Amino acid sequence: MTTDHYAVVGHPIGHSQSPRIHGLFAEQTGEAIQYVAIEAPLDDFAGTVRDFFDRGGRGLNVTVPFKEAAWRLADEHTDRAEAAGAVNTLYRNERGRLVGDNTDGEGLVRDLTCNEDTEISGQRVLILGAGGAVRGVLLPLLQAGPAEIMIANRTAEKATGLAHQFSDLGPVSGGGYDTLHEEFDLIINGTSASLAGDLPPVSPDVLTETTVTYDMMYGPDRTAFSRWALDHGVKRTMDGLGMLVEQAAESFRIWRGVRPDTAPVIAALRNHR
Ligand code: ATR
Repeated sequence: MTTDHYAVVGHPIGHSQSPRIHGLFAEQTGEAIQYVAIEAPLDDFAGTVRDFFDRGGRGLNVTVPFKEAAWRLADEHTDRAEAAGAVNTLYRNERGRLVGDNTDGEGLVRDLTCNEDTEISGQRVLILGAGGAVRGVLLPLLQAGPAEIMIANRTAEKATGLAHQFSDLGPVSGGGYDTLHEEFDLIINGTSASLAGDLPPVSPDVLTETTVTYDMMYGPDRTAFSRWALDHGVKRTMDGLGMLVEQAAESFRIWRGVRPDTAPVIAALRNHR
């Protein structure tokens, strides 16, 4: 049996969990793959990708800061990658064309609906942030059939612009944090505020007793956003570890045609992080 080669490319890449996750998927499914982390030079992402595929590599995951560069490099995009304007999964199709996909939104939706038993359909959803992470997940979230999606952002124009871009695809609007005057069923934090030790400046008035929150970030401890929600009476908070594993599982399915069981992998990462 030959071993097929895969990798994640980023800069820096030392902390990536992807080799571990795909290693666990391979063990579980018996697929003969090797998956490594590659740190691409900031000025030569394209050369790194070309080199990898020229040496017979079968597929790449792409992470910060190259997801937009990967979008530009791909010859073809899936609909969800096109909408995201960013690519986290690359492979060559039967005609040798480089295909760019984006599995982040599918990962978020699957984590919410399959792992966490959280409805999106018919729900009032608030998304905090309007950067690349949020744009990356909007199409699959809209396809999950929410009653509405409100995007709130510190820079209000970015939220209104993003909402405008997706408004043909579903009930989405955008604005600044000060425009929020209603309660929401599901609140997703897609800002990078916690990297600066900050919280998005959202009023607790958006919360009810039954609101659930999801932080696309994760860490060894509860995130600051989850702690904020719990402090204001929210009973159910989730972090982005499940999304990380689910987006990887979707890449694995695209490459190998087999969907791994994510539950034991999520459990393994939760126990050893
Ligand atoms: P990413 O790829 O992680 O989405 P990004 O495109 O730089 O990164 O977007 C970061 C998001 O987090 C933006 O929505 C940003 O708000 P602005 O558009 O107003 O900059 C948001 N963000 C970052 N730091 C924040 C903070 N301290 N408070 C509130 N929002 C913050």
